[in-house]
Amino acid sequence: MSACGLDFGTSNTTFGHVVDGVPVLVPLESRHPTIPSAVFFNRDGGGVLIGRNAMDEYVDGTPGRLMRSLKAVLGTSLIDEVTQVGRERRTFRDVIAYYLASVKRRAEEVAGREFRDVVHGRPVHFVDDDPDADRRAQEILEDIARKVGFRNVTFQVEPIAAAFDYERQIAREEIALIADIGGGTSDFSIVRLGPQRHRQADRQDDILGNDGVRIGGTDFDRKLSLGLVMPLLGHGSAMKRAGLNAPTSYFHDLATWSNINRMYERGVASDIRNVRREAMQPKLFDRLLRVLEEQRGHTLAIDVEQSKIALSETAKAALSLEWLEPRLKLAISRTDLVHQTGDLAETIGRRIETCLKQAGVTAADIDTVFLTGGSVQLTHVRRRIADCVPGARIVDGDTFGAVGKGLTIEAHRRFGCSM
Ligand SMILES: Nc1ncnc2c1ncn2[C@@H]1O[C@H](COP(=O)(O)OP(=O)(O)OP(=O)(O)O)[C@@H](O)[C@H]1O
Ligand SMILES: [Mg+2]
Repeated sequence: MSACGLDFGTSNTTFGHVVDGVPVLVPLESRHPTIPSAVFFNRDGGGVLIGRNAMDEYVDGTPGRLMRSLKAVLGTSLIDEVTQVGRERRTFRDVIAYYLASVKRRAEEVAGREFRDVVHGRPVHFVDDDPDADRRAQEILEDIARKVGFRNVTFQVEPIAAAFDYERQIAREEIALIADIGGGTSDFSIVRLGPQRHRQADRQDDILGNDGVRIGGTDFDRKLSLGLVMPLLGHGSAMKRAGLNAPTSYFHDLATWSNINRMYERGVASDIRNVRREAMQPKLFDRLLRVLEEQRGHTLAIDVEQSKIALSETAKAALSLEWLEPRLKLAISRTDLVHQTGDLAETIGRRIETCLKQAGVTAADIDTVFLTGGSVQLTHVRRRIADCVPGARIVDGDTFGAVGKGLTIEAHRRFGCSM
């Protein structure tokens, strides 16, 4: 039996254990150390898939239900709401438990050992400005972890875990700002790090500040979708009655990863048909209805996410919607992305500035900014973070693995290895 570090992320999950004194992420899907936090339920009872297999099955058009961004549901009342999955109806809590049980089983098969003790990652805030909901979110995750077979379940905030991973590579003492910009949350820690300190069991005094905000890559996807893609499906379009626009809630749900399946609930399509009758441009709503009929909401979200990711490398991206309508496509520039999501990057930057103040340090005290999480690759986000601490050295961590490895280090520290 041994201890592990589990990073159940909004978009990706990792599972690590220490081998020969080094944290190692277990390959969970062929050789990949990460697995998408996604579950696919075949509609015709043909089984349940997780990770890349789940995404691929959905993209290939197999009828069924894809669920992503499950972590976003923790801390909301949705967690015990029942939803249709395949032939059955299950709560989100059960779907998360199914996913984590599958990940644990795979890790045990690959590592050839049983994992009973876990350090589970958690964002600094699951829920902004609501300590009760935040506490409930952690309790639910703990409850799920026990249900899937962990005996000792403890938590560590994700940016502190990332700090422990970074600390392995430094030779001198320093004060670091850790910025972990993931799929669902942005988390920051200001920590005193050093090779001597790395060996100490209690690091409480080295943590100068922690803060976080519920903004992550999925929010960038949502804003990009609402600003540029949803208008092609009727969002913001005029109704025949002067001064009225189409209702917005459908578009918000379709642009929000964790809400997409709501669009397939009974009554939604018929409501939209009623809206279509009153619309100045009914053709736009025909597109929306087609997305619903074919349950392609996640295809739209995946396409938007891919365009966003492409814009980290290139100035222009093409988003093809030809599966929806012949010749329907969209050109998106990095300027468009910044225009649609600049406010999110700004909120992240302001939050870091507040975190510095609360920690009692100035920008000049920060030696290094350690960046991790997929969304640090967004160029305007990186720039805004760098602007908070202009004199600091920027270090790119393992984008998708630093938190997981840090949790693994912490698991070894807390539980040791009983093998
Ligand atoms: N090259 C890229 N450019 C921009 N965004 C990217 C890039 N690669 C991945 N992302 C985004 O990063 C996010 C996933 O990052 P990550 O795996 O760190 O999140 P997570 O750990 O699952 O989420 P969280 O920690 O917030 O719960 C997704 O929103 C994804 O679209
Ligand atoms: Mg993360």
